[in-house]
Amino acid sequence: MDSEQFEMIKAIEILNQGGVVGMPTETVYGLAARIDKPLAIEKIFKTKERPFFDPLIVHVSTLDQARKLSRQWNIVFELLAQFFWPGPLTMVVPKSEAVSDLITSGLDSVGIRMPNHPLALKLINLAQCPLAAPSANKFGKTSPTSKAHVLSEFVSDDIHVVDGGECQIGIESTVIAINQQPQNKYQISILRPGNITKSQIEKVLIENNIDFQFNETLDKKASPGSMKHHYMPAVPLIVIDSDIQPIDAVLTEINQKLHQLPDEVESVKIVKPTGKIKIPIVISLPDDPTLAARNFYAELRKCSKLHGDCLIIYRGQKFNNELWEGLNDRLNKAASLII
Ligand code: TXA
Ligand code: MG
Repeated sequence: MDSEQFEMIKAIEILNQGGVVGMPTETVYGLAARIDKPLAIEKIFKTKERPFFDPLIVHVSTLDQARKLSRQWNIVFELLAQFFWPGPLTMVVPKSEAVSDLITSGLDSVGIRMPNHPLALKLINLAQCPLAAPSANKFGKTSPTSKAHVLSEFVSDDIHVVDGGECQIGIESTVIAINQQPQNKYQISILRPGNITKSQIEKVLIENNIDFQFNETLDKKASPGSMKHHYMPAVPLIVIDSDIQPIDAVLTEINQKLHQLPDEVESVKIVKPTGKIKIPIVISLPDDPTLAARNFYAELRKCSKLHGDCLIIYRGQKFNNELWEGLNDRLNKAASLII
């Protein structure tokens, strides 16, 4: 038996016995459990130290599974699923009884997606059951894009991780909610931007003559997981909204502002320096947004270990484009400070 087969068989055993496993996907690695094992779902929250108010995404390997998780599957779900799945789009749909309140944090809806990774699809197929999986990191921290990252997040938990290589997309899926209104009108909210853009979704809906509108204001209650801070690396990340400039020019301002940061925002601990910043580490991201997203979390992890006391990313002109929207969202949340 080769090691991939062995990892897969062991993963299925753990899942079937009510355990959790690390699952590769094209976006980030997930910490997966069968949706029909409540203790396993609880274990996800405990292992991640995730508050119970933040709902989990359910992963499917067939459209039929997705339809069964929803009590009101509509034409927009069907169209977008057919067009974008398997892929980095999560749709929030009215949940059916197959989905427990624990998974959805008591919400009447569930986020579903079909991941575009052969090993994730294989795992769900072999389990013969959809798998709930949030990103496999401690709550509020940087998401993992390799098996080694997952192992380093849960050192004392002895988590079994299926190795699917490095994630190709590198940031989490786009999450959308779709509200069906009278006369077959639809209102669509982007709860979390990602690799699949608003324009791509718009194009599919227009081509299929759907009467829809984007809801531009984010309803916090409809999206309990969208805290102001998230994905933070081990040392503070500072995003500077300008092209590169001499570091001395901004260091005084950084030190002054870091000092004023609160300890916690929306129950997420803010990463702060212990003293004055002396050794900033500047991260430069590739010019191509796809590559930049792919490398982003790995760069944060790698550069956090370089014995600097903060990370700096200059967010210059190139970031002013829809293709950077997913990454901009992660930068805003991962940053302890934006200046
Ligand atoms: O790419 C991804 O989506 C990765 C991989 C593993 O699939 N998963 C992921 O899960 O990012 P997580 O738990 O880190 O983020 C899921 C977010 C929640 O924080 C929440 O904001 C939103 O999805 N979500 C899930 N269910 C929802 C629901 N019923 N209503 C509104 N938002 C929901
Ligand atoms: Mg996450």
